[in-house]
Amino acid sequence: MCGIIGFVGSGEAAPVLLDGLKRLEYRGYDSAGVAVSGADGINMVKTIGKVEELVKKVHECDRLRGSCGIGHTRWATHGIPSDINAHPHMSEDGKFAVVHNGIIENFTALRSEFEQKGVKFQSETDTEVIVCLLAYYYDGDVKKAIMKTLSRLEGSYAIGILCADEPEKIYAAKVASPLIIGVGAGENFFASDITALVSHTKNVIDLDDGEIVEMTADSLVIYNHAGKPVEKPAKFVAWDIAAAEKNGYEHFMLKEIMEQPGALKATIEPRIKDGWIVFDDIDIDMTKFNRILITACGSAYYAGCVGRNVIETLCRIPVEAEVASELRYRHPLVDEKTLVIVVSQSGETADTIASMKECKKLGATTLAIVNVVGSTIAKLADNVIYTWAGPEIAVATTKGYTTQVAVLDMFAMWAAEKLGRISEEEYKSLLVDLMRLPERAQRALDLSSRVKKLADKYYDRSSLFFIGRNIDYSVCLEGSLKLKEISYIHSEAYAAGELKHGTIALIEPGRLVVALCCLEELFEKTVSNIEQVKARGAQVLGVALENNRRIFSEADDVLLVPVTNKLLVPVIEIIPLQLFAYYVARKNKCDIDKPKNLAKSVTVE
Ligand code: G6P
Repeated sequence: MCGIIGFVGSGEAAPVLLDGLKRLEYRGYDSAGVAVSGADGINMVKTIGKVEELVKKVHECDRLRGSCGIGHTRWATHGIPSDINAHPHMSEDGKFAVVHNGIIENFTALRSEFEQKGVKFQSETDTEVIVCLLAYYYDGDVKKAIMKTLSRLEGSYAIGILCADEPEKIYAAKVASPLIIGVGAGENFFASDITALVSHTKNVIDLDDGEIVEMTADSLVIYNHAGKPVEKPAKFVAWDIAAAEKNGYEHFMLKEIMEQPGALKATIEPRIKDGWIVFDDIDIDMTKFNRILITACGSAYYAGCVGRNVIETLCRIPVEAEVASELRYRHPLVDEKTLVIVVSQSGETADTIASMKECKKLGATTLAIVNVVGSTIAKLADNVIYTWAGPEIAVATTKGYTTQVAVLDMFAMWAAEKLGRISEEEYKSLLVDLMRLPERAQRALDLSSRVKKLADKYYDRSSLFFIGRNIDYSVCLEGSLKLKEISYIHSEAYAAGELKHGTIALIEPGRLVVALCCLEELFEKTVSNIEQVKARGAQVLGVALENNRRIFSEADDVLLVPVTNKLLVPVIEIIPLQLFAYYVARKNKCDIDKPKNLAKSVTVE
């Protein structure tokens, strides 16, 4: 979702801004723009479409000269994707240019206030009111104008600001939207996330809500909400630029699928000490809770659905999983006896943040499972367990999801042990399988060329179904989402036993049904559902464990995954489904890393 970059240094700003925008592309966007402040005031170039289009337009324009500027990739919320609605937005007097991520909730009232003052708005965006406010309050003191402007804004925002009167300075501020500062040598930056900065600097400062930063090439001052300077040391971020680049893979998604064994190893191994799972970073007394609630969005929610089964099975505590955008409006029955587990790759998903805040307000203890260090969710939660997946760039999550599931598995084992609900024997046997997950994930990746052949066979289906029971069903949800989000093929995940209650009407000759049958104890039950769809002409692609031979007489095509403990199977079982989605989308020539209409980091509700 919208990406922001700001630069001030000694060289030309435009190439740095364009490079930063390229690195932010993965967040999802539909238009882009840059503004540079120079001797002749602020100039800007904007376009609908991709950053490549913007690069061309910038090359055709020789006015973008200056060593200080701001850039933006926009994911449309207020107003269609268009050149005019693209950011930056400039005040009528040309004094201020602004880029913005988030939503100004009171923009309608502010807009009519300024229309009454005679301002003619150029765009349909909520952002344009910010430049109006800045120009209105400006009396020669930029910081004062920013503070007055912020006091009028309701909602969430990360904003980058240029003022024509100060062509060697950039300003930024944030409330409830991500923004970090990059501290360089003779140059400074701000950006929505670290991926835009790591090629320039690894020294970053988190900006907190209500803070404003004022930067030149050699100086940087952060002010708190009252306008007083605050000292904030920079942190070194260990992320490697190579990890955020494609390393020869055609797409980030394929690279990230292939990185899963390493990501699982990094997430699991450091937490196993002397044969026990140890979370140094959390302080939770499991005996306090009579209930666990898992909340998240998208794939993180589907990871939570797997976690629900595993935690409930091992801990024998009631566990519920609920999408964050629904939970908060359900008046959830949450109190101090509830442990709320919040799952998020980015740590910035607006609905997840809002749900977490609501649960905290009701007295719950919160535990966040997050990939991005220092993200909003990580900061707000009472406890954090990081997934060590490294940067994930493709919009469709892969290693983010599998590491989330692995952490939920580990948490389930840890909690069951603390509660005395698991025998040492079962614990130790699960631990052996847990530690072998990276190796088994690697073996599942060896299915790649076989999966590609199946994708070549089935890529042109207009609609398909994923069916499974229990934990297999949780994996169906994620497998189906992967396929539809990157290939745009309609797909539904169904609990295998539920299909006959209506949806089986859609099964017709040639319909592809992907049947997940890794849970041995329910295999016969799923087989009866396979027979029901086959009787209606469906073709079946079965996914089962390597030791399963029956599946060959039931399914038209088969993918066998390495055997592991049934509770840990999802981490392995999803891998061929990720590859299937990838190869189907590739065969259909889809924009795999940046699927249409989607955003990586969904910072609006
Ligand atoms: C977006 C992404 C999904 C992701 C979801 C939740 O929709 O496209 O891949 O699962 O947000 O994101 P989070 O960062 O909270 O895990």
